[in-house]
Amino acid sequence: MNTNRLSPTIEKALSDQMNKEIHASHVFLSYGIWADDKGYQGIANFLYRHAQEERNHSIKFMEYVLNRGGKPKVDAIPAPPADPESLTACFDGVFKHEVDNTTAIYRIVDLALEEKDWATWNFMQWFVQEQIEEETLASNLIDKLKIAGGDRATDESLFTLDKTLQETPNDVPLAQEATGDNP
Ligand code: FEO
Repeated sequence: MNTNRLSPTIEKALSDQMNKEIHASHVFLSYGIWADDKGYQGIANFLYRHAQEERNHSIKFMEYVLNRGGKPKVDAIPAPPADPESLTACFDGVFKHEVDNTTAIYRIVDLALEEKDWATWNFMQWFVQEQIEEETLASNLIDKLKIAGGDRATDESLFTLDKTLQETPNDVPLAQEATGDNP
């Protein structure tokens, strides 16, 4: 008896996304290594933690496909892009990568809607919310660097930025949780 509750199209899209999340993990790992090599250990620590989050996302896709009776396929992962030229390029790259991932997530939501696969639609809402957090986190990086002086930042302000990112949590609070007392 066929117990696969996913259509071949959805199964493939989810499996591809499992691989895409691993690619994202490798991109942030390689950016982290670049930052570490430049002496920005706090920034590297932030990027390494983010790489691990992406791996966790990949595992969620893997588990979901297996739970629904499908079988995800581990593919060859493309190499990460070349090292960034500057911290600005690094943080812009992180943001761009998150937006690109959001597009991929929305595509799967669209597919689930088209097929009326409400289980997958429901599963994907976690990722829709997660992408709001991840895009906010990435755009906060760009803002912090701008405040520090961008590519003309002094060593002192970069030192402070590096230290701040070492301690920056992996998550940002969602707007849905904000109140007047706790904006
Ligand atoms: Fe797994 Fe950054 O999205």
